[in-house]
Amino acid sequence: MKSPVAATIAAVRQAVAAAHRRGLSVGLVPTMGALHEGHASLLRAARAESGFVVASIFVNPTQFGPKEDFGCYPRTLAQDLELCGREGVDLAFVPEAATMYPPGSCTYVEVHGLQDVLCGASRPNHFRGVATVVLKLFNIVQPEVAYFGQKDAQQVRILQQMVRDLHLPVEVRTCPIVRAPDGLALSSRNQYLNAEQKRDATVLYEALQEARRAIERGERNAALIRRGLETRLAEAPGAMVDYATVMDYATLRPLERLHGEVLLAVAVRFGETRLIDNLILTVTK
Ligand code: PAJ
Repeated sequence: MKSPVAATIAAVRQAVAAAHRRGLSVGLVPTMGALHEGHASLLRAARAESGFVVASIFVNPTQFGPKEDFGCYPRTLAQDLELCGREGVDLAFVPEAATMYPPGSCTYVEVHGLQDVLCGASRPNHFRGVATVVLKLFNIVQPEVAYFGQKDAQQVRILQQMVRDLHLPVEVRTCPIVRAPDGLALSSRNQYLNAEQKRDATVLYEALQEARRAIERGERNAALIRRGLETRLAEAPGAMVDYATVMDYATLRPLERLHGEVLLAVAVRFGETRLIDNLILTVTK
């Protein structure tokens, strides 16, 4: 059975107010639809600890570059609403673009420094679009808790910073990366890959696992780990490495020696399709 749907801000506010009157806490899971098991894991986390679960489904135009896949991004609303129904979502918010961006909108949120590196370097304005739409969703739904996947580690880091800097009364929860049995991180964009590319794409996970093993053996030289990632990624035919980096997760600055909360992050293009993956490790000595 499909979950109930709201298309307007007024309808969401009414449903959320009714939930609050019943003493229920509100959990929000923002998505762009084309839902898969990764999204489902966020919905389950929300269901487990929130009394009223809202999922938003909105392909946000401001986070796509002019040459990116906004036009052909997979849109599978009927299936998405079925999945939301199965996962016990109380309300799916499915707005039109003009609802999220009323004509004449000219206000954007920027998280300087964090938004410009990694994916932000090759996707200018991407995180400005993400931060802006997520702030709008927070203001519309007013959840106590919002759920995001570590799959997009930079996105979560930026949103945590936005919440802190703007004193937003929301807790940001990060859920683990859900993978296919072969290690490939689930993504709505995996549908773009042909069979051969899908096989080659497991190299992202394999490269990160090799790096993890090297770190567990005691390697602390970030340049060596970075080179190891690049070499391993380049072994996959058709892989064009966008970045392979070792960063301090709090600052998203490159490290020389591994210490503290360390983000290993990779982005690789297969044809037109850009895939990302990462690993966060705590290195204490
Ligand atoms: P989307 O790519 O649809 O992802 C929605 C949420 O699902 C994000 O928090 C993402 O990290 C999480 N997710 C995706 N694949 C996952 C996986 N394999 N394992 C765990 N979590 C996964 O991210 C966005 O949409 C947008 O930028 C959004 C935040 C909705 C703003 O438009």
